[in-house]
Order: sequence, then structure tokens, then C-alpha cells
Amino acid sequence: MSVNVFPSKHPLVAHKLALLRSVDTKPKKFRELVREIAILLAAEATADLDLKSVEVTTPMGQTTGHELTYDIGLVPILRAGLGMVEGVWEMIPQAEVWHIGLKRNERTLEPMQYYAVKPVEPHVQVCLILDPMLATGGSASAAITLLKSWGVKRVKYLGLIAAPEGIARLQTDHPDVPIHVGAVDSHLNEVGYIVPGLGDAGDRQFGTA
Ligand code: PRP
Ligand code: URA
Repeated sequence: MSVNVFPSKHPLVAHKLALLRSVDTKPKKFRELVREIAILLAAEATADLDLKSVEVTTPMGQTTGHELTYDIGLVPILRAGLGMVEGVWEMIPQAEVWHIGLKRNERTLEPMQYYAVKPVEPHVQVCLILDPMLATGGSASAAITLLKSWGVKRVKYLGLIAAPEGIARLQTDHPDVPIHVGAVDSHLNEVGYIVPGLGDAGDRQFGTA
């Protein structure tokens, strides 16, 4: 595994992923698990962010605390990425949220962009892309290309499950982007789904299967 790929080793992520994958998990529980795993992955993906010192007055006196140096952007890829935003946003409430709409063509597996609004003054220093599934990697690669065209210098990808094919594509297209995932699975099947995976992350969250 390349130095830029970080499959989570956290036992809670592994435990929750098993529940998430199960065919018996219904949409309400599925959404809860997506939210919880996203928070755990965000903690791992943000562990290297820079801090600056700030003076804090406690009821007992003065001390030195820390605050984040950078403005952060959260970038959910519609629609399945929506389930990952809320929990991460609670952890980073000062973050901006930029939505990007991408839908894979079921035949060609190429992503089609249907929504993206460039922020007026894109001033965030780091963007976290939130998208549960890294399958062919086409959607993630297109989202990163768009963010870079908007001037974003630093991007991290956060996903629940990745296929080796998607990781290879991202590493070719965007070798500067670290990939934080809950697990790396076996392969893609003939219709572009991750095996063993969890099925369709959007349908399972929104009850549209
Ligand atoms: C899914 C998933 C990713 C994409 C991954 O979205 O949420 O965005 O597929 O596939 P890729 O790596 O091969 O591009 P989908 O296009 O099904 O849209 P949805 O979220 O609206 O269901
Ligand atoms: N999108 C999904 O939701 N699941 C997959 O396995 C692949 C793409």
C-alpha cells in the first residue's frame, strides 16, 4: 500500500463497517453508521493539521491553548456523500461546506457533473472530500480536478470503502491527495460495484433501492 493511502486501523471503524455492509442493516441504522464512521475517519484525516497557540483564560488563571491555523472546506459528493457531512461538520463547525453533484453513468461508469457552484472567494486551505465509495475513482478524480481548478491547494479524500482500482486511478491522477478509507476491498465487479462492498451507498441511505 502506497504511503499516501491510509486504511483505518481503528477497531471502532472495523466494527461499524461490518454492520454497515450487512444486507440486514436498514436505512435508518445505515445512515447512523455512515455518520459515525465519517467522524472517526475525519479524526484520522485531520491529525496532521497545523495549530497555532492562543492565550486562554480559565476560571483558575491563564494558559496556552491551540486553534486550527487553516480554514477547512467539507466537500460532500452528492448524493451519497451527504450522509458523511453532518457528523464531520459537528466536529469542525467553522468549516465551509461545498456541494458537488456527480452521477456515474451506469453503462460507461463515467461521472456526469450536474451541480457545482464555485464559492465566491475560495479561501480554504484544505478541503476534505466526503464520498462513501471509491470504485473506479472517476467521481473522486473529477471532484479533485474541479477543486484544484478553483484554486484549492490541499485536498484529502475520505471514503468508507475503496476498490484497488479506484485507489490506483486517484494515485495516477492526483498523487498529492492522501486517501483515508475505512477499508480497501477485493475488486470491482463487471458493472463497477465494489466487492464485497456494501451495495449502493446512495440507495441504502435514502431507501431508494
Ligand atoms: C456513487 C458513489 C460515488 C461513486 C463512486 O455515486 O457515491 O460518488 O458512485 O464511483 P466511481 O468511483 O466509479 O466514480 P453515484 O454515481 O451512484 O451517485 P449517487 O451518490 O447519487 O447514488
Ligand atoms: N457506488 C456505490 O454506491 N457502490 C459501489 O460499490 C460502487 C459505486
